[in-house]
Amino acid sequence: MSVNATSFSSPLANAKYAASGIPAQLEPVMEAISQMGIWTVALTILAVAVVYDQFSYIWQKGSIVGPAWKAPFIGPFLQSMDPKFEEYYAKWTSGPLSCVSVFHKFVVIASTRDMARKIFNAPAFVKPCVVDVAPKLLGADNWVFLDGKAHVDFRKGLNGLFTRRALECYLPGQEEVYKTYFKRFLQITKDAGGKPVPFMPEMRELMCAVSCRTFVGYYISDEAVKKIADDYYLITAALELVNFPIIIPFTKTWYGKKAADMVLAEFSKCAAKSKVRMAAGGEVTCIMDGWVKQILESKKWREAEEKGIKVEGTKPSPLLRDFTDYEIAQTVFTFLFASQDATSSAATWLFQIMAQRPDVLDRVREENYKTRNGDIHAPVTMDQLESMTYTRAVVKELLRYRPPVLMVPYMAKKAFPITENYTVPKGAMVIPTTYMALRDPEVYTNPDEFDPERYYSGDAEVKGAKNFLVFGVGPHYCLGQHYAQLNLALFVGKASLLMDWKHHPTPISEEIKVFATIFPKDDCPLTFEERKW
Ligand code: HEM
Repeated sequence: MSVNATSFSSPLANAKYAASGIPAQLEPVMEAISQMGIWTVALTILAVAVVYDQFSYIWQKGSIVGPAWKAPFIGPFLQSMDPKFEEYYAKWTSGPLSCVSVFHKFVVIASTRDMARKIFNAPAFVKPCVVDVAPKLLGADNWVFLDGKAHVDFRKGLNGLFTRRALECYLPGQEEVYKTYFKRFLQITKDAGGKPVPFMPEMRELMCAVSCRTFVGYYISDEAVKKIADDYYLITAALELVNFPIIIPFTKTWYGKKAADMVLAEFSKCAAKSKVRMAAGGEVTCIMDGWVKQILESKKWREAEEKGIKVEGTKPSPLLRDFTDYEIAQTVFTFLFASQDATSSAATWLFQIMAQRPDVLDRVREENYKTRNGDIHAPVTMDQLESMTYTRAVVKELLRYRPPVLMVPYMAKKAFPITENYTVPKGAMVIPTTYMALRDPEVYTNPDEFDPERYYSGDAEVKGAKNFLVFGVGPHYCLGQHYAQLNLALFVGKASLLMDWKHHPTPISEEIKVFATIFPKDDCPLTFEERKW
């Protein structure tokens, strides 16, 4: 072949393969390749890659349910950009284990309670697998990405921040935020001339504000809280299952990263202030204070031990190392990251469902009124909050009925023999589903009905002990689960005393929109009025 025969000639054309030590048996192959044009080579490579991609999918799929073939390379990528609850549901009902493959990612979905529990409780085989962009937002060295012993040890140091005693310190700050935002809810209805307004964005902002107060107390200004609450939407929007590997300016991930950096910068400033206040013997009023206090006490203990001095009091357990302001901010940011979407989802459904069920709302109101001894503005103590068993049953049933987190992605660290017949391949994503266990008719009578009675006077607590996967189980179960439930109880109880509200249903009010967690598709149109007693 002449070198000038065509400008598309293969770069291998005329190559002296024989002279470069290629075995004689391969000579015909090399000869054939050298005769090909560049397009032929490219198309052949593409065809081989398509066949490999297809075979690899079919091989990994093995005996479980899934499409017979995948769209070359991308699989259902476009669907995953706009996830639909109905499509997830179809997947869960297709079999206990089902699969899809998106780009290079093979994904196994476990739908039954027992399969889901098996994954949650298999730390030797799996580790949590957050979406691609999460390490870029939270920092790759963040504790949430630790695994095994390192994770267990770090988590031990955080447990003290969520004890009953600790949670009680955060209550006054939470009540104050609720009071402020309830006034705003009333104003929104007034400003709209009494017309319904979708309240999902408001619920998100309120939950972000209450989280900031709980996590970093009064070290943060109201303006900064407002900015974080406004911008947090950008962080959620960046959390797609698959993102482009680098952050390109003006894309969702770019805006998400900017918002995350802003939160980290604000929280770092709070950490510096908390260190000063705690060192001066200040009271703990937020989660950050609690952790900083533990860090300072650990430091004091270690220094005294080094000098051989005996220290009064009990040894901090576990003894924490020193953390920089930025590291403290990073850890506290994980709480916001973990709570914001889930709590906003629960808050939105709670307001929608309470308006639809005045019988339930009346009982919540009555319980809260009695507990506060008839003073609708009285703050509650932890004892009082815990004593409101009906309000807490409402929250628990809400979380069962509309579980904010439908699925929790894990990654197989090694081949994981999940059943006798099927082994999840190493590197695959493996996703336990919470939804099906929470709608199991054998455990919950009429599972598609919202019925707080099942947790108040019924046996759902005991009968459904293994089914209540709302907060996960195993070594990564939700660190904030008690706080989250008590906070929602405080929220709806206080709202019931100060306001009346109406839900204005639309044809899509009961349909589920998936936006990291779940929301009513119409974003929950509500109107509020001050409650007259
Ligand atoms: C209704 C609200 C909430 C729901 C439904 C929820 C649900 C979950 C779920 C399903 C997991 C994964 C569990 C697993 O892999 O086994 C999780 C993890 C976690 N949650 Fe929550 N959560 C909520 C609120 C909160 C709050 C308020 C906080 C913090 C204050 C929080 C902090 C965390 C943390 C730190 C983790 C990771 C724990 C670890 O990896 O060790 N969550 N949550």
